[in-house]
Amino acid sequence: MNYLKAFLLLVASAAILSAAESLAQKASKQRLEPIPADRQALFSYINDENDPITDDKVELGKKLYFDPRISKSGIISCNTCHNLALGGVDGVETSIGHLWTMNPNYLNAPTVYNSVFNKVQLWDGRSSHLEIQAQAPIQSEAEMAASSELVVARIVSIPEYVADFKKAYGNDVNITFEKIAGVIGVFERTLITPSPYDDFLNGDEKALSKAQKEGFEVFLKKGCAKCHYSIALGGTMQPFQVAAKYKFIELGDFRGDKYGMVKTPTLRNVAETAPYFHNGQIWSLKDAIKEMGSVQLGIKISDKEADKMVEFMHSLTGRKPTITYPILPPSTNKTPKPDMN
Ligand code: HEC
Ligand code: HEC
Repeated sequence: MNYLKAFLLLVASAAILSAAESLAQKASKQRLEPIPADRQALFSYINDENDPITDDKVELGKKLYFDPRISKSGIISCNTCHNLALGGVDGVETSIGHLWTMNPNYLNAPTVYNSVFNKVQLWDGRSSHLEIQAQAPIQSEAEMAASSELVVARIVSIPEYVADFKKAYGNDVNITFEKIAGVIGVFERTLITPSPYDDFLNGDEKALSKAQKEGFEVFLKKGCAKCHYSIALGGTMQPFQVAAKYKFIELGDFRGDKYGMVKTPTLRNVAETAPYFHNGQIWSLKDAIKEMGSVQLGIKISDKEADKMVEFMHSLTGRKPTITYPILPPSTNKTPKPDMN
């Protein structure tokens, strides 16, 4: 082969390599990070040293997550609104809780998958700790409507649960409401879903299709990562309605925190978590992307660009952890009965 040809080939392949490399580099410059591929690094990231993750706690937290008896009526569990078989959401505009009560602020349920990567929880960011956050829906009148006393009474009336708590926290464990909510939080820490997007950022060039890479380029170029960054591609408080009013702002009274800031939702598994926005008014991902362009960036996103970004967002659909549906221990004569009031 003549030298010139060989040289041109080399230049061409180097160009392909560096173009591909630069997409991952651009992403990293814009503060996008993959879920660590290394198991140990991942574990230290999701672990909380104050209440370390152990198999016994995760198993107990999972039971309680699926147990409707921590609600007043005995029929609503965390999984009712954060259905782990449905992307961690309920798939309705606004959540329905105790006695068919709609969320009073017309708020849509965010996914619990990967919530461990959020800096803050809830649409107005008022909570940051999963173990503590779990207390709120149990007690909220519009969600599970149970008093802390009722929840503790139900759990301690069931000997298998008492044994599970001892196994998880030691024989002298005091089964308080805080402990019950806390162990659900420990389970939630394990709900993480690595995706082709992570594989790509962790070095697997082929993990994304050509269309997904193009969509990723558009996403970076338009400035979406200004707010959708870090491992969560969201999870921090950001200004809302920066450039224009959100089309459906009038529905519900949610206007963000006291500064008008809103928790940026994670984009992980977003293809599975319609409807979108805090009041669930947009059902198509494409429309959500276009609305973001006008509301947050003051730009018009073309159909073609939006289609590409939809392709990219499918690469954020992650591999779900295997969750065996738990068989829950039976109630006893001492267990407080369901209360439908
Ligand atoms: C009746 C439906 C309903 C039930 C039951 C429910 N949630 Fe929620 N959850 C919601 C809604 C709605 C929000 C958003 C509320 C807000 O931002 O003020 C939410 C928010 C959250 C968040 C914050 C996620 C984020 O990205 O901001 C977590 C974590 C969470 N719930 C966990 C739980 C756990 C754990 C349970 C069970 C103890 C539970 N939820 C029960 C509807 C529900
Ligand atoms: C200035 C910060 C900011 C920028 C820039 C931004 N977003 Fe958002 N994004 C948010 C916030 C905050 C919300 C939640 C708004 C609400 O529901 O009230 C959101 C919501 C979304 C949602 C709906 C997610 C869900 O689960 O409901 C999608 C999809 C989305 N953004 C994609 C994008 C895309 C694509 C771009 C770039 C074109 C972009 N965003 C730019 C902050 C931003």
